[in-house]
Amino acid sequence: MNREEISRIAHAEHPIKSPLDDDSVRRLLERGLPKGDERVLDLGCGQGEWLLRALAARPDAHAEGVDISEDALAQAAVAARELGVQDRLVLHHRKAEEFASEEPFDVVLSFGAAHAFGGLLPTLAAARKHLAPGGRVLIGDGFWERPPSQEAVEMLGNFTDLADTVDRVVADGWTPVDGHVSTRRELDDYEWACWGSLAAWALDRPEDPDSPEVLETANTRRTEWLRAYRETWGFVSLVLRRTADSA
Ligand SMILES: C[S@@+](CC[C@H](N)C(=O)[O-])C[C@H]1O[C@@H](n2cnc3c(N)ncnc32)[C@H](O)[C@@H]1O
Repeated sequence: MNREEISRIAHAEHPIKSPLDDDSVRRLLERGLPKGDERVLDLGCGQGEWLLRALAARPDAHAEGVDISEDALAQAAVAARELGVQDRLVLHHRKAEEFASEEPFDVVLSFGAAHAFGGLLPTLAAARKHLAPGGRVLIGDGFWERPPSQEAVEMLGNFTDLADTVDRVVADGWTPVDGHVSTRRELDDYEWACWGSLAAWALDRPEDPDSPEVLETANTRRTEWLRAYRETWGFVSLVLRRTADSA
C-alpha cells in the first residue's frame, strides 16, 4: 500500500491533517477571514479541508488550493461538489513552490506543509509572494515544547522552541495578530485518530493482503509517537500580518 493510501485511511476520522480540533480551525479561520469575501490560497492543501470549511461558511469567498497529491486533490474536488462550493474552488496539481498566480490573495494558508518549503521561514517567503497588501497568513508548524531526543529530531525535523519560533517570525517582518498552541488533548486526539484509524482498518479486514502491513504501520507509528516525541513536540498556529507592508 502506498503512502497516500496509508495517509487517506489514517486521516479518515481527522480530515484536518494537523493537531487542531474543529473549534480551533473555525476560530483561526474567523480571525484569518474577517470579511467573508476573501480570496484564499492554501499551499499544501491536501484534501482541501481548510478551504472547504472556509468556503462552506462564507458564500462570498473564493479559494485556490495547491498540492502535489493527485489523490488528495481528487478527494477535495468530490467534497467540494458535495458541499456545493465547487464553483468557488480551484485546485492546482503542482508543487507549491512552483505555483504562480496573476492575482494576489487576501489570505494564504499553509498547515503542516512547511517541510515542503524547507521550514517555516521559507514557507512564509513563499506565502508572501502571493499575498495582497494588508493580507493575512495562517500558518501551522511544529515546535519543541521540551528539548527533543536525537531520534525525535531525525523523525520530525529541526524545530526551535515556541518563543524562538515566534521571535524568528517577527524578525522576518511579520506580526502575529492571533495564534493557537495545540492543547495536549488536540495533540493526543490527532495521533490516536491517525494510528487508531489505521489499526481499525486492518482489524476490520483480516483477509486483505495489505492488512498485516497496515497494522504494523499503525503499531510502529503509535510507538514512535509515544516513545520518541509525545513529550517534546508541540504545534503552533499563527495568524500573521506584515509588520509593515513595504517590509
Ligand atoms: C500534513 S499534510 C497537510 C494538509 C493540509 N494542509 C491540512 O492541514 O489538512 C501536508 C500536505 O503537503 C503536501 N505537500 C508536500 N510537499 C508539497 C509540495 N512541494 N507542494 C505542494 N504540496 C506539498 C502533501 O501532499 C500533503 O497533502
